[in-house]
Amino acid sequence: MASLANKNILLGVTGGIAAYKAAELVRLLRGAGASVRVVMTRAATAFVAPLTFQALSGQPVHLELLDPAEESAMGHISLARWADLVLVAPATADFIAKLRAGLADDLLGALCLAATAPLALAPAMNQAMWNHAATRENLEVLERRGVRLLGPAAGSQACGETGPGRMLEPAQIVESVAGLLGDGPLAGLAILITAGPTREAIDPVRYISNRSSGKMGYALAEAASALGAEVTLVSGPTALPTPRVRELVEVESADEMHRTVMARAELADVYIGAAAVADYVPNASAAQKLKKSADEMILIMRKTPDILAAVAALEKRPFTVGFAAETDHLEDYARQKLAAKALDLVAANRVGPGLGFDADDNALFVCWKGGETHLPLAPKPILAEQLLRLIAERYHAQNPAQDS
Ligand code: PMT
Repeated sequence: MASLANKNILLGVTGGIAAYKAAELVRLLRGAGASVRVVMTRAATAFVAPLTFQALSGQPVHLELLDPAEESAMGHISLARWADLVLVAPATADFIAKLRAGLADDLLGALCLAATAPLALAPAMNQAMWNHAATRENLEVLERRGVRLLGPAAGSQACGETGPGRMLEPAQIVESVAGLLGDGPLAGLAILITAGPTREAIDPVRYISNRSSGKMGYALAEAASALGAEVTLVSGPTALPTPRVRELVEVESADEMHRTVMARAELADVYIGAAAVADYVPNASAAQKLKKSADEMILIMRKTPDILAAVAALEKRPFTVGFAAETDHLEDYARQKLAAKALDLVAANRVGPGLGFDADDNALFVCWKGGETHLPLAPKPILAEQLLRLIAERYHAQNPAQDS
C-alpha cells in the first residue's frame, strides 16, 4: 500500500458520473496517510452530496469562490498554498477545457490557477468526448504546461458505450499520486529507456529508417516518472512533445544510441529497450548527395551493435527489459529472446499493418524466468503503466535487499 503520510491533497471533484468514485478515493487517500480537503464544482453536487465528502475527509467541503466567510481570509489562496498536490478526479471534458483556457470563474478553476503545487487530472468522460479533437488538443496543451494525466482507462462506460474515458479506479489513482509525490513502486529507481526509430544515413539527405513513432517508449517514460522513477530517455527522431523525464537525450543513428546508452547503463537500475533500432546500416555514408546515374544501386550494409545484448552483458547490469516486435510466433520468439540474451523480462508485441508501430493502442505478451502474462489491447499510456508495475514487481522480487 502506497504511503502518503503528511501529504496535503486538495481534491477537486467535477460533475461527472464518476464523482461517486471520488468518495472512495478520499477514503483511500486518507488511509494512505494524506490529509484531504475537497472542492466541488456546482455540477459535482448534482451527483454526490457535499456532506458525503465532509464525512469522509473530516473537513468542511469548499463550494463557492465568493464565500464571504472564507474569502475574508483569502480562502482560495490559502487552500492553494496548503496543497502538496491538486488532484481533480473526475476531471470532465468541460473542466479540462476551462483549465486550458485559464478560466477562474469558480473556486476550483481559481485554485488551479493559484496553486504552485503539481496538478494532476484523472479524466472521466464518454469515449467520443475523449477522442474529440478539442479534448485532445486541450490535454496536449495542459501536458506541455506540466499537468499530469492519470489515465483514463478503457472499458465499458456508464452511457453504454465502450472505449477510453473511464476514470481510473481509486486505488490506481492513489498509487499514481504516491508516484508523483515520490513514493510510487519505482521510487528511487533510475530507469533508462530507449524510444523511437533510428535513422541510418545513406548520404547527406537520405536515410534508412522504420515506422516507429516513439509513442510506446514515450508512454513508458511518462508512466515511469509518474510511478516515482528518475527517467532518462534516449530517443530517436520523433514528432512527440517532450515528456516529463529527468533527462532526454535525442540521437539519430543506432551507433549514436549505442554510445549514449552504454555511457549510462551501469548507472541505471532498470533498462528498457523500446526503440526500434536498425539492425543494419549502410557501410559508409556518402559525403555528397548520390547522383542518379546507374539503373541499379547496391547498398552494402553492416550489422549494428546490439544495444540490448550489450547492456545485458554488462558486469554491473541493470534489470534488463527487451521488446520483441514479431509478425508471427510471438510467444515462442519472446521466450527464445529472453533466454538467448539472458534478459530479465521481454515484452513482445505483434507488428504489421495497424499493429505495434505508430498505433495508439498496443497489446503485449510479457515473459520472464518463471512466469508470463498477457496485457490486452489498450492505449499505449495505460499499457505502459501496467508493464511498469509488472517490472517493479519483478525488480523488487530480484532485489529484496534494496527494499526498505
Ligand atoms: O514507437 P511506436 O510507434 O510506439 O511502436 C512501438 C514499437 C513497436 C516500436 C515497440 O513496442 C517495440 O516493439 N520496440 C522494439 C522494436 C524492435 O526493434 O524489435 P526487435 O525485435 O527488432 O528488437 C528486439 C530488441 O532488441 C528491442 O528491445 C530493441 O530495442 C533491441 N535492439 C535491436 C537492434 C539493435 N541493434 N539493438 C537493440 O538493442
